[in-house]
Amino acid sequence: MSESRNALVTGGTRGLGLTVARRLAAEGWHTTVIGLDEGRLEKVQAMAEAECLELRAIRADVTSEESVRELFAGLTATRPLHLCVNNAGGNLSRLLVKKRRGRQSDELVTHPLEEWERTVRLCLTGVFLVGREAAAAMIRHEVPGAIVNVSSGLAVGAYGQSAYTAAKAGVEALTRTWSYELGQYGIRVSAVAPGVMDGEALREKTSSFPRHARYMEGLQRFVPLGRWGMEEEIADAVCFAAESPYLTGSVIRIDGGGPPGWVP
Ligand SMILES: NC(=O)c1ccc[n+]([C@@H]2O[C@H](COP(=O)([O-])OP(=O)(O)OC[C@H]3O[C@@H](n4cnc5c(N)ncnc54)[C@H](OP(=O)(O)O)[C@@H]3O)[C@@H](O)[C@H]2O)c1
Repeated sequence: MSESRNALVTGGTRGLGLTVARRLAAEGWHTTVIGLDEGRLEKVQAMAEAECLELRAIRADVTSEESVRELFAGLTATRPLHLCVNNAGGNLSRLLVKKRRGRQSDELVTHPLEEWERTVRLCLTGVFLVGREAAAAMIRHEVPGAIVNVSSGLAVGAYGQSAYTAAKAGVEALTRTWSYELGQYGIRVSAVAPGVMDGEALREKTSSFPRHARYMEGLQRFVPLGRWGMEEEIADAVCFAAESPYLTGSVIRIDGGGPPGWVP
C-alpha cells in the first residue's frame, strides 16, 4: 500500500473509533482522530507515539460547522484525504411518553426536545457536516476515496430510542444518497451497522448500573450468535468497506444476527 494514504476517524479517541483508528494506522494509513476531551486526545497522542503509530489526535467538534471547516482547512489544504470514517455518536434512552405513577394521578413525562436535538445533531448532523467536507476535499484533490459511516443495528427502530434510531436511519439514507451523488467522482460511500459491542461504553454502563447489566444479560439471549460483538470485528468491516473497490451504497450489518429493536 502507498504510504501517502490519509484517513480521518471522528470520535476516534476511545471505544470503537479508537479501535478502528489503531487498525488503520497499523495498516499504514496516516490517520487523524478527532474528539472533544483534551485529556483523551493527549492520551491517544502519547499512545500513538509510544507505539510508533502514524496517528495524530486533534480537537474538533463534529456538531459545529465552524469547527469542521477549520479541521478540513488544516487537514486537506495540502494533503488529500482518502478515507473518512464517520464514527462519532452517542446513544440516548428516552421513551416518547413515560407514565409515572403518582399518589393522586399519573403524570406523563414527554421526551425533551433539547435531548432529541442534541442526539440528532451529534449522530446525524455531525455525519452530514464531516461527510460534506470530506467529499468536497476528495473531489478537489481528484481522489477516488471512501466514506464509511457508522450506523447501528438499531437504525430499524428500537424501544425507547426515538432520537438515536431516527438519526441512525438518517445516516443509512445519507449513505445511499451520497453513493448515488458521488459515484461519478469514484467516491464510494458505505455504512457499517454494529450490534451491541463488548467495549468500553458497555462496560462502563453495566458496571455503574446493575439494573442495566441485568437487562443487557437478558437481551443477549436474542442474539443468534449468543454473544456481543468485538470492536475488532467492526474494524474488519470498516477496512473491508474502505478497500473494496466495487462496494458502495451498502450497509454492512455486523450484529451476530440481532438483537431485535423491541424486547418485551
Ligand atoms: N458501542 C456499541 O455497542 C455501538 C453499537 C452500535 C453502534 N455504535 C456506534 O458506534 C459509534 C461509536 O460508539 P462508541 O460506543 O465507541 O462511542 P463512545 O465510546 O461513546 O465514543 C464516542 C466518541 O465520539 C467522540 N465525540 C463525542 N461527541 C463528539 C463531538 N461533538 N465531536 C467530535 N467527537 C465527539 C468522543 O470523544 P470525546 O470523549 O473526546 O468527546 C469519543 O471519541 C457511534 O456512532 C455509535 O452510535 C456503537
